[in-house]
Amino acid sequence: MSAIIIAQKEALQPALDALARGEVVAIPTETVYGLAGDATNGAAIARIFEAKRRPRFNPLIAHVADIAMAERLVVFDEVSRELAMQFWPGPLTLVLPLRSDAGVHPLATAGLETLAVRMPRGFANELIAAFGKPLAAPSANSSGRISATTATHVADDLGARIPLVVDGGATPVGLESTIVKVERGTLQLLRPGGVSAEAISAVAGMPLVRDGSHGIQAPGMMASHYAPRAGMRLDATDIRHGEAWLGFGPEPAPAQAVATLNLSPRADLVEAAANLFAHMQSLDRSGAAGIAVAPIPSTGLGEAINDRLARAAAPRDDPA
Ligand code: TXA
Ligand code: MG
Repeated sequence: MSAIIIAQKEALQPALDALARGEVVAIPTETVYGLAGDATNGAAIARIFEAKRRPRFNPLIAHVADIAMAERLVVFDEVSRELAMQFWPGPLTLVLPLRSDAGVHPLATAGLETLAVRMPRGFANELIAAFGKPLAAPSANSSGRISATTATHVADDLGARIPLVVDGGATPVGLESTIVKVERGTLQLLRPGGVSAEAISAVAGMPLVRDGSHGIQAPGMMASHYAPRAGMRLDATDIRHGEAWLGFGPEPAPAQAVATLNLSPRADLVEAAANLFAHMQSLDRSGAAGIAVAPIPSTGLGEAINDRLARAAAPRDDPA
């Protein structure tokens, strides 16, 4: 198989046809590209796992077109409904109790009694509305690799294993969605992402609990999930032999760097988030022995940026 890439404006019908046949389609969302399949079709979900080479125990996010579709899948409480009203469509995923009649295939939920749901913006939303059913969609990358933010990155990685990539250009947010679990009146931050924790707390009127003590809450959050081939060195203030430089802010790059990119010369965290994965990939491809990354503040989207950088820098739990 070799994927065909179709421009977004001509892709709606071919994508609908493929989904109806139980095939998988890589689609742009506002966060990163997703590898989408019919969430109610076990064969489609199996193809997603197979294409990603993803461990089966890892549950998928069900993407919906509107709140009504989400209400048919999960049980909302007051706080989660308020968060959905404020942030959907957008980069927020809510983990909520699964309805017994949701119809989502158990392969997609990994047998859990909760379901992660999100309403994306743009082409993905249009596609789900036309399809009339939720789409299960993990990020469109091989398991353990950086999420793809362009159609070319998707095709380079998964092109041999999927039939269709919808090209919607570079994804505007550039980081995966923030995942929040609402449980017994508390909000747990399972994954920092495209909506800042501060913004979510402000709407919910309560703090987000960041609790590492429950083990892997979002099973895809293994330490080395975002691994480039080159080693990463964070909070760097100098450069070592053979390293590339990933800068942030107006400071010039160290002269000895073998390659140089800047996440945001004007120190803007939104711009840095949008550039993060593509810049990591470019520097990785430069052949550098390592990537030194300038310090990045941890406020706002900086929390998610530093989270992804820390995972990229972590020792590999799987050499593949
Ligand atoms: O922005 C995004 O969220 C992108 C786009 C395509 O929507 N999707 C994405 O999906 O990042 P994925 O599968 O790469 O990451 C979803 C994360 C995984 O870490 C998974 O373990 C976790 O969500 N997850 C899914 N269902 C869950 C559940 N019921 N409870 C806890 N974590 C869950
Ligand atoms: Mg992923």
